[in-house]
Amino acid sequence: MFSKDLFNGKTILITGGGTGIGKAMALNFADLGATICMLGRRESVLKETCEIIRDKGKMAFYHTCDIRSPDEISSSLDYFIENAGMPDILVNNAAGNFVSPTEALSPHAVDAVLGIVLHGTIYMTLDLGKRWIKSSHKGVVLDIVTTYSWTGSAFVVPSAAAKAGVLAVVRSLAVEWARYGIRHVAIAPGPFPTEATRKNLFPIPEVEAMLSERVPLGRVGKMEEIANLAAFLVSDHASFINGEVVTIDGGEWLKGAGQFNGMLSLSEDQWKAIREISRKKG
Ligand code: HXC
Repeated sequence: MFSKDLFNGKTILITGGGTGIGKAMALNFADLGATICMLGRRESVLKETCEIIRDKGKMAFYHTCDIRSPDEISSSLDYFIENAGMPDILVNNAAGNFVSPTEALSPHAVDAVLGIVLHGTIYMTLDLGKRWIKSSHKGVVLDIVTTYSWTGSAFVVPSAAAKAGVLAVVRSLAVEWARYGIRHVAIAPGPFPTEATRKNLFPIPEVEAMLSERVPLGRVGKMEEIANLAAFLVSDHASFINGEVVTIDGGEWLKGAGQFNGMLSLSEDQWKAIREISRKKG
């Protein structure tokens, strides 16, 4: 579906690109010709992903950065612009999350998640966006949100609040910055197990099994599926898509939403009984 020169001449910056979904997107973008810039807190994983890309003869750069710090974001952008040129595409992928009863959270725990997900995403978008606008450079921003950005979810309240905020930023800037040639899109992934989600969100096997059962297609997502969607959305093939969020979850969130969806568990005999009762006249 994608040609190998799709992103030739493009520089793509991915936050949290060293692991999980960020890494999968980085490797795919590089295979499609992009120069990759990655930032995150852990140098070891950034370096490793960069080396994989460079070993394939492609260009990749990394800079350590905690996106809660606007100063660290600014230094990282200076470094990338000097070495790789102005990024053309920003992927706000870095996140922090863990499951916990909300009443067990401290203010610091709330701040840690909001700081990474909401503030970090806005700081990143703001700094690069200002540089794009100043230099009349067109751009695309892809934000990774979640289906509970609009439904909310028990046990991940700071993350739900932060991701809802990020989605609001996408929809707001899609309108405000379109006049500068800056496009905004988002992806809402369902279950795509990664090392980090296994540790923080599905820490015991029972939780992972429970989440998989919620997916109508009966399985979790594959990394290449989300990487391909990201490649399409940030490419020129999607140049008229702006302010949209694409869900990739096998139908998971809709299964929870439909009032009668619980009837999937009914047996043939129960359906027969229902037919007989509901067809009776009077
Ligand atoms: C309760 C917890 C906790 C837990 C940390 N805290 N983990 N409280 N239950 N499991 C509290 C700490 O006690 C502390 O509060 C505060 O949170 C900050 O913790 P630190 O470890 O000091 O913070 P920091 O090192 O900055 O780490 C941030 C983090 C961490 C979010 C807590 O988990 C992290 O860095 N995660 C990055 C990787 C990650 O989470 N990836 C998953 C993203 S997946 P006190 O008061 O004690 O000081 C994702 C997808 C969503 O977001 C959609 C899924 C379907």
